[in-house]
Amino acid sequence: MSDAGRRPFVGGNWKMNGDRGSAATLIRGVLGAIGADPEGIDVAVFPAFPYLLEVGSILSGDQSTVMLGAQDVYHQPNGAFTGEVSVEMLRDCGVSAVLVGHSERRHVIGEDDRTVNRKVLATLNGGMTAVLCIGETLEQREAGETDAVNERQTRLGLAEVSADDMDRVVIAYEPVWAIGTGRTATPEDAQDAHAKIRSVVAGLYNADVAERVRIIYGGSMKPDNAQALMAMPDIDGGLIGGASLKAADFAAIVRAGVGVAS
Ligand code: PGA
Repeated sequence: MSDAGRRPFVGGNWKMNGDRGSAATLIRGVLGAIGADPEGIDVAVFPAFPYLLEVGSILSGDQSTVMLGAQDVYHQPNGAFTGEVSVEMLRDCGVSAVLVGHSERRHVIGEDDRTVNRKVLATLNGGMTAVLCIGETLEQREAGETDAVNERQTRLGLAEVSADDMDRVVIAYEPVWAIGTGRTATPEDAQDAHAKIRSVVAGLYNADVAERVRIIYGGSMKPDNAQALMAMPDIDGGLIGGASLKAADFAAIVRAGVGVAS
């Protein structure tokens, strides 16, 4: 974290894991470990759609400031879109943050940048926080395209997003080859990518917006590497997959985020 005063953001992306009972146990474990109102950090959890209400009711029962997040959204407000879920539906369930363009959506499901952009705009228009996920594949990295991919996905993902709305955008840099693989970008490589993404934001908006936007790292972040990553000046937190399924590990990463910010 830099001394620019950006509040760290740590999110737990639970992906398509668990069941109703384990989702409840996990959020209770997280709240038990970090408290209902963790100080100095924004924390969000992203359960699968069917468990949003259950997790949300535990969060509100504890009057928790931990944000309830969704892993995806559809950009249309309503209508004949079988299988999709709208911004309003998510809001109705207490959701305040949405992951958009996660690498599994892009590379497994096949979402393109235009779709990602529509979802970012719909999320922001609905008053929620959009976590825009970007990052290169191994092939792109080996071809020296990391910065070009990050720039393109940032530009296209943020098309028509106003400078004011950038306060509700978090950018998650997640190199695809590091997700779920146990391979993590080195803090130096991640810092380099983050600094370049921040300069893309400066070019799209201005220096002030770039200084304020939070850019978090994702890809095999664990308790034993979180501190070194988040200590880098342009790394403002993390998006955690595997390690977010264990309350103690997720809590340790949240504590690392608070530690490097204070
Ligand atoms: P991982 O997932 O921590 O399991 O690598 C990160 C993510 O997909 O957001």
